[in-house]
Amino acid sequence: MNHVIETIKNRRSTRKFLEEPIREDELSAILEAGIYAPSGGNNQTSHLLVFQNQIVLNELKQLVEQEFSKIEIYEGMYKSLQGSISASKKGGYDFSYHAPTLVVIANKKGYGNAMADSVCILENMMIAAESLSVGSCYINQLHWLDENPVIHEFLKQQGLEEDETVCCSLALGYSDMKKQSPLKRTGNRITYIR
Ligand SMILES: Cc1cc2nc3c(=O)[nH]c(=O)nc-3n(C[C@H](O)[C@H](O)[C@H](O)COP(=O)(O)O)c2cc1C
Repeated sequence: MNHVIETIKNRRSTRKFLEEPIREDELSAILEAGIYAPSGGNNQTSHLLVFQNQIVLNELKQLVEQEFSKIEIYEGMYKSLQGSISASKKGGYDFSYHAPTLVVIANKKGYGNAMADSVCILENMMIAAESLSVGSCYINQLHWLDENPVIHEFLKQQGLEEDETVCCSLALGYSDMKKQSPLKRTGNRITYIR
């Protein structure tokens, strides 16, 4: 099979990482693959914040736990969000699974393609990471807390601009999990009109 398609099909989310930081050349290649993603109207307004400072990352994790634990769970709430809130209330919650690198992708507030452009970047990075045997996992928690003033202020101190919104983020690092086989896709549908 074509290598790119094989890489896409073999990628799995990594949720247990080694402490060891990823090599600089691998990180650069992954980030470059990300910014080579297409963007609506070729706008290229995404902003990648690459967290590798463990003190800053730990501070962010503590703030995320603190802010999630203030939220009340209600019936019908998105299950994964409920999971983050419950885990935060218990304590010791690490939303990015102790990954040594977290890439936060932000884009301009009010820009209609903010999410689409950001996720194109994220997907490119996940595939590039897989091709280099670097583990990755899509992380939604910072997007859920995008309008939280404590998190927003903290991210601003790290380089987020006032007019930017957090769309998604990606945990990156060497996997500490057994290689998993590709998950069978049973949901997504294809309809041919020929
Ligand atoms: C929009 C989106 C949000 C996601 N958010 C999270 C998340 O916050 N935490 C997490 O552990 N995985 C997250 N995932 C990963 C999915 O759970 C995962 O891709 C899915 O279960 C399929 O498994 P696979 O990636 O191993 O193929 C997210 C994936 C997508 C596409």
